Amino acid sequence: MNVSCISDHVHYIGLNDRTIHKFEAMWPMPYGVSYNSYLVIGEDKIAVIDGVEAGHAFRHIDHILEITGGRHPDYLVINHMEPDHSGALELLRKTFPAMEIVGNAQTLAMIKGYYGIENGLRQIKDGESIDLGGGVGMDFYLTPMVHWPETMMTYIAADRLLFSGDAFGCFGALCGAVVDKDMDTSHYFPEMVRYYSNIVGKYGQPVQMALKKLSGLEIETICPTHGPVWHDQLSDVVDLYDKLSRYEPLDNGVTIVYGSMYGNTEVLAEEAATALASAGVKNISIHNAAVSDLSYILADVFRHKGLIIASPTYSNSLFPPVRAVMEALENRGMKNRVVGLIGSHTWAQQALKAMTASVEATSMTLVGEPVNLKHAPGADKRAECRVMATALAEAL
Ligand code: FEO
Repeated sequence: MNVSCISDHVHYIGLNDRTIHKFEAMWPMPYGVSYNSYLVIGEDKIAVIDGVEAGHAFRHIDHILEITGGRHPDYLVINHMEPDHSGALELLRKTFPAMEIVGNAQTLAMIKGYYGIENGLRQIKDGESIDLGGGVGMDFYLTPMVHWPETMMTYIAADRLLFSGDAFGCFGALCGAVVDKDMDTSHYFPEMVRYYSNIVGKYGQPVQMALKKLSGLEIETICPTHGPVWHDQLSDVVDLYDKLSRYEPLDNGVTIVYGSMYGNTEVLAEEAATALASAGVKNISIHNAAVSDLSYILADVFRHKGLIIASPTYSNSLFPPVRAVMEALENRGMKNRVVGLIGSHTWAQQALKAMTASVEATSMTLVGEPVNLKHAPGADKRAECRVMATALAEAL
């Protein structure tokens, strides 16, 4: 079996990165990441679709030449300019000087700005096509803000195949196979939720617009820029992206995010968890915001319908690790979640005030009476916590 062969005219020429610690210098990468790139071979012309990160340039060029038998590609299509896909561009251009770089107006402006490349550029518009010969053509669809302004997708009608850029992508390097039908994909789905919530989460509406725009195309295979190529599980992946981009929870579980300097707020977070479990909630994820990485907290908030946030007051504001979570949720315009709050303080009750304002800035819904703790929790505050958590469980 030739695992690089995706369809009649498309080959995989991407690369895995298992040395990266943090994607975008901030998101943990326990399973690495793949930079997916593809070759489309028509009767007359050859196109590279999407590039790779700078450190992988030489092996990328080797892959191209191996599959083309030494022939230079005619086009490089850039569906997304972010440097994890364009970092190797200058070396690619030097190696294949006649290769035209294809993108929309915004892409080409970024190519000039990032790499100083001004010649051999071909600007395409929404709905335009380039013929590769033998009935193979590339149709371009602009899908801005998924998740940069220049993002677009390329469709190969002959193979019913879509190059989707970051959309439908996920963290996790590929382990031998490339297409979903040839691997166990179970560990890629949680990594897709994490990828979406971390990277694309702010852009739910543009994702919805892109899904609508492409809904008329016959698509059998989706080739994203990260993670497996989707064929057999294509409808599962599209459904998941549709749900995530509508901010629809994936289950009726609850995420509890708390900060606690000396354990008092933590006692209430645990009390709330016990009350949720007693009320029959089975899927509860608890994060100490000062210990869990924001990446995993966001993934759980996108996954579960319920959210309880507990924070002490710190320097007349929120405990900073909890504030980072609240800001990330505001930034992503989080909605369709029911939220319970626990605030604590010693002399100035700022945490509850700040959390309430932050939740009200989103479209999430406060449920139950917020718990306001002064000093250490006694039986009364623990009871209030159970009442709030039970109200949340009923709202799921
Ligand atoms: Fe994979 Fe938005 O870059």
